[in-house]
Amino acid sequence: MLDKKAAKKAAKKAVREASRKGTPNGLCLTCHGRPGIAVTLATGQQVPIAPVVPKRYAASVHGKFPCLTCHEAKARLPHAPIDREAQSYNDYLKGISVCSTCHKRAYEGFLHTVHGTVRELGDPRYPGCTSCHTTHAVKHTDTWTAADRALACNQCHRGAQTSFAAAATGHREPSLSWFAPTYLAERFLLLLASSVIAFGIISVELDILRWGTGRLRNRT
Ligand code: HEC
Ligand code: HEC
Ligand code: HEC
Ligand code: HEC
Ligand code: HEC
Repeated sequence: MLDKKAAKKAAKKAVREASRKGTPNGLCLTCHGRPGIAVTLATGQQVPIAPVVPKRYAASVHGKFPCLTCHEAKARLPHAPIDREAQSYNDYLKGISVCSTCHKRAYEGFLHTVHGTVRELGDPRYPGCTSCHTTHAVKHTDTWTAADRALACNQCHRGAQTSFAAAATGHREPSLSWFAPTYLAERFLLLLASSVIAFGIISVELDILRWGTGRLRNRT
């Protein structure tokens, strides 16, 4: 589990830096532990922001982290304004930029999934880390039940059954020992596509060769 080691190392560093700033989580939670705070967009529209439930946060895998580990820009009060229209803001909301600082392998795996492709194509409906894992109540994935999974997928795939969620999982790349049918199907398609291209190239080269030798013969 290389990723776990890397995540722990990155976490230690981030936590150390956040602790140095000395802002206790309790301070953040006096405002953010209850509902009612809203963000005013450039259009004047008020968007409520979700409160953090202290108990659920403490019980999550990141429960011991200072809030500033992931929100270093929020140390200042009142917070500096940020550009909420920017594309990078969408990535921030979905956790892509924040979560990836520690979970590099999961991030790279995500980029290779259908959902990574949906994002790459510029479709704003793509799910990010927080869509499936939540933001402040992240659990170990081996404690997810089949129903938990189905619920996560159901937010966007209406009527997704547990079988759907179990068949196409998060963002690990399929391998021979994990989802072998998917892995083999992918390999087969890759082989098929590359052999079609290879045969195409060989026949074009043969044509050129034939044309070249034909010209040489004509000259002599
Ligand atoms: C005095 C109340 C108060 C305290 C204390 C406070 N905040 Fe905020 N926070 C706000 C308000 C009000 C907003 C919405 C206004 C804005 O950012 O435009 C906000 C917004 C945020 C946002 C959302 C930004 C976004 O656009 O999605 C985050 C994240 C955040 N705060 C984190 C923190 C952290 C971490 C701490 C502790 C270091 C903290 N806040 C302390 C009042 C507070
Ligand atoms: C592991 C990283 C991480 C930690 C630790 C963390 N947050 Fe967040 N937080 C995020 C991400 C990513 C978002 C953006 C996604 C979202 O809004 O749900 C976010 C969003 C927020 C928001 C805006 C919610 C909204 O509806 O837009 C607030 C407020 C906030 N965090 C406060 C806190 C407070 C207070 C703590 C500490 C008790 C904390 N966060 C700890 C990652 C973290
Ligand atoms: C479509 C839902 C979905 C999205 C989006 C998603 N995950 Fe996951 N994630 C899962 C599921 C399901 C698992 C459980 C293992 C599996 O089945 O792949 C998991 C497992 C994990 C694990 C633990 C085990 C491992 O494979 O390393 C980490 C860490 C993780 N995800 C982080 C992230 C990060 C970071 C992002 C964003 C870049 C992200 N996830 C995006 C669903 C998702
Ligand atoms: C500062 C580094 C850091 C950040 C940022 C971070 N994590 Fe983690 N994460 C960790 C550490 C450390 C663990 C605990 C690893 C362990 O003990 O298994 C962990 C555990 C997890 C797990 C459980 C892994 C498993 O094996 O089941 C998931 C899922 C996860 N994080 C998702 C996220 C998501 C989603 C975000 C963004 C909201 C995020 N992480 C942000 C460091 C981080
Ligand atoms: C935030 C929204 C969101 C979440 C959550 C989400 N997806 Fe998706 N997913 C999409 C979008 C958008 C597409 C692109 C195609 C479409 O419109 O269905 C897609 C496509 C897919 C596809 C490709 C084929 C198809 O059925 O369209 C699969 C398979 C898939 N998702 C599986 C999952 C699984 C499994 C989960 C839960 C672990 C999940 N998704 C969670 C948004 C989401």
